[in-house]
Amino acid sequence: MNVLVLGGGGREHAMCWAIARSEGVGTLSCAPGNAGIAGIAECVALDILDPAAVIAHCRSHDIGLLVIGPEAPLEAGVSDAARAAGITVFGPGQAAAMLETSKAFTKEICDASGAPTARYAAFSTPDEAKAYIREQGAPIVVKADGLAAGKGVIVAETVESALEAVDTIFDGPGGASVVIEEMLTGEEASFFVLTDGKTVLPLAGAQDHKRARDGDNGPNTGGMGAYSPAPAFSSQIEAQALEKIVRPILGEMSARGTPYIGVLYAGLMLTADGPKLIEINARFGDPECQCILPRLKTDFLALLLACANGKLAQQKIEFSEQTCLTVVMAAKGYPGTYERGDPIDGLDSADADPNVIIFHAGTRFEQTVVVSDGGRVLGITALGRDVLEARNRAYDAAGAIRWDTGFYRSDIGWRAL
Ligand code: AMP
Ligand code: GLY
Repeated sequence: MNVLVLGGGGREHAMCWAIARSEGVGTLSCAPGNAGIAGIAECVALDILDPAAVIAHCRSHDIGLLVIGPEAPLEAGVSDAARAAGITVFGPGQAAAMLETSKAFTKEICDASGAPTARYAAFSTPDEAKAYIREQGAPIVVKADGLAAGKGVIVAETVESALEAVDTIFDGPGGASVVIEEMLTGEEASFFVLTDGKTVLPLAGAQDHKRARDGDNGPNTGGMGAYSPAPAFSSQIEAQALEKIVRPILGEMSARGTPYIGVLYAGLMLTADGPKLIEINARFGDPECQCILPRLKTDFLALLLACANGKLAQQKIEFSEQTCLTVVMAAKGYPGTYERGDPIDGLDSADADPNVIIFHAGTRFEQTVVVSDGGRVLGITALGRDVLEARNRAYDAAGAIRWDTGFYRSDIGWRAL
């Protein structure tokens, strides 16, 4: 079967890697892909936000499964249009993806399904939002309702900074409304499940490191490293998250006639009162995906197909007992401005250890040289008996890479150690 993956980050490299190892893969292609993906899949130039272009490509290349990696094509309705055109698709439709694209919608679904989350209120004018903040006091969390490219959440320590955040959001891209919520405390965890709209199978938990610098300092990023399983996300907490949060939310989506198909990412705060939902993403986490799929023993393509075809009830998911850890190498300046086009050396020797996989997130070829082409550039991933062994292997491999304008955190996994 021919498979097309949309996206070109570390997540899509990991997904392509797992699909390439599955049975029954014919041609594996990826749009747009990157220099690492090019080693295992055919990279194609395609406007992945244009449903008609994606459908035409699927038809002319006999694509048996379309796998959507990032949120932008989901929000653009590519998944619905392709499904309506008779293509088998892994990825939620636009209505189900609203769990990621609208925070106010997700809060309403939490209320309707009883899923525990931070207390909140939503406002469509700055004045009402500010009055509420003054009444509640700080600390308090201010969120843009729409997608805001990772810049839409401000955890405000003071009333003044919360008020300022309201103005920033109403002036910015996600700006039609804000959600103001209670600040939760605890460790964060990312929990992933697969669902075909009827059956829900838990996949795995992971812990990400969102801040740019060691010690969880510096600005928020898309994620600077992750490991799975996360000791803090015990099987007991996973069961609570599944039964109290994920199943009720997915049940509510199905009851509304918009069943969710694909991978659901629940961002959780592990509070003293049990796990509470912080956010939902309608896609795999990145870098979490890079440290989950190498542990997966079940055929990944079979799981994706079972989700897409409504046959997940026939599947079982198995993982290796090993821990997997990913260290993200990013371009200096990320998450702010950074250079592209700098050569990266040593990639061939860095993964000499069979426990190491180097996923590419933002790279391209310049002639035969791999150069940086994004903020997050590589995901140095390693398997080991425990977090410590996986971490040591990942850092050994990272040390073998020569890239003058790159940086990485040196403390990935600290919570678990
Ligand atoms: P989000 O985009 O919703 O994932 O938020 C980004 C980050 O903001 C989260 O990973 C948390 O670290 C933090 N955050 C969001 N909501 C809350 C909350 N209610 N309490 C504490 N921290 C939060
Ligand atoms: N690593 C966080 C995310 O994928 O949103």
